Amino acid sequence: MKAEQGIVLVDRDDDGVDKAFRSDVLDGLSQPEKAVPARWLYDDAGSQLFEDITGVEEYYPTRAETEILETRGAEFAELIGPDRAVVEFGSGSSVKTPLLLKAIQPGAYVPLDIAGDFLREAAADLAKKFPDLDVYPVEADFTKQVELPREVLDMKKLGFFPGSTIGNMVARTAVDLLRSMRATLGGEESELPYLLIGMDLVKDREVLEAAYDDASGVTAEFNLNLARRINRELAGTIPVDALEHSAVWNDDFARVEMHLRATRDIAFEVSGHRFELAEGETIHTENSHKFTRRSTNTLLLAGGWTPVKRWLDSEKRFSLVLARATELRNAP
Ligand code: AVJ
Repeated sequence: MKAEQGIVLVDRDDDGVDKAFRSDVLDGLSQPEKAVPARWLYDDAGSQLFEDITGVEEYYPTRAETEILETRGAEFAELIGPDRAVVEFGSGSSVKTPLLLKAIQPGAYVPLDIAGDFLREAAADLAKKFPDLDVYPVEADFTKQVELPREVLDMKKLGFFPGSTIGNMVARTAVDLLRSMRATLGGEESELPYLLIGMDLVKDREVLEAAYDDASGVTAEFNLNLARRINRELAGTIPVDALEHSAVWNDDFARVEMHLRATRDIAFEVSGHRFELAEGETIHTENSHKFTRRSTNTLLLAGGWTPVKRWLDSEKRFSLVLARATELRNAP
């Protein structure tokens, strides 16, 4: 692996705390409807808990998307072609990323992630599996434009964003992210970047709610880890035993919402600021939007990407979509 330590682009204060984490939590808890952006669920512990979620019976998205990657490799290779630098938005899973890399013969692999230790471990594992592939991990917040390592600047790019992580964003933020990805990937008109993106599909409420509230309680732990992380990193005093996990399908917004609900009135501090939750009040911790064919295309187009091809798993639960950066031209 090249660039052993990667490039570190996270803005930390003197205590090593990510400044954006602190301001997002303080701002989010100060709102009338308390909420913390979902990306803060993924510290090293949270990333590990999410890996555990992918193994629970009720959580179908990972298995469904893996099936698509396993069975459609030849089609990816034909549409995408070889020698592209694969820029993955996120550390990469030990299963999905190798399936893509095996299928398309990439020129380099560049994982971008904000969770540094997890990123470097995942990148090292990957480099071991693909000894001939140059791997350049970059520790960065990929919701902003990221400067890629100079070694890959001249290569054509394929962005890879599996897992339906785009579904964690409300439409406005999802569009911002898609535009940032377009900016990060660069490329002239002659070599427009591609994006291969996973998008979970709308389906029955029962199936969706079970996927986000598994019987073994792994998703509950994942959600509660956010409160624990706030306590750890932001001198928080949240009584975690007074919070319970909740996952509910919101049909108007086509999303599963995760909340932490107070089981009694509580008061606590975060970074010296005092907050209260009344019994039954919640902190909204994640949205997981689900898509249809049309809503998929609308979102991608709004973010500057033209859908090229869409694949579903055999049970039609999940979609993987290939899109190409939209050419700037005059059109009605
Ligand atoms: C990481 C976006 C794929 O929304 O399905 C899983 C995260 N949250 N269970 C999702 C998650 C609760 C997840 N993604």
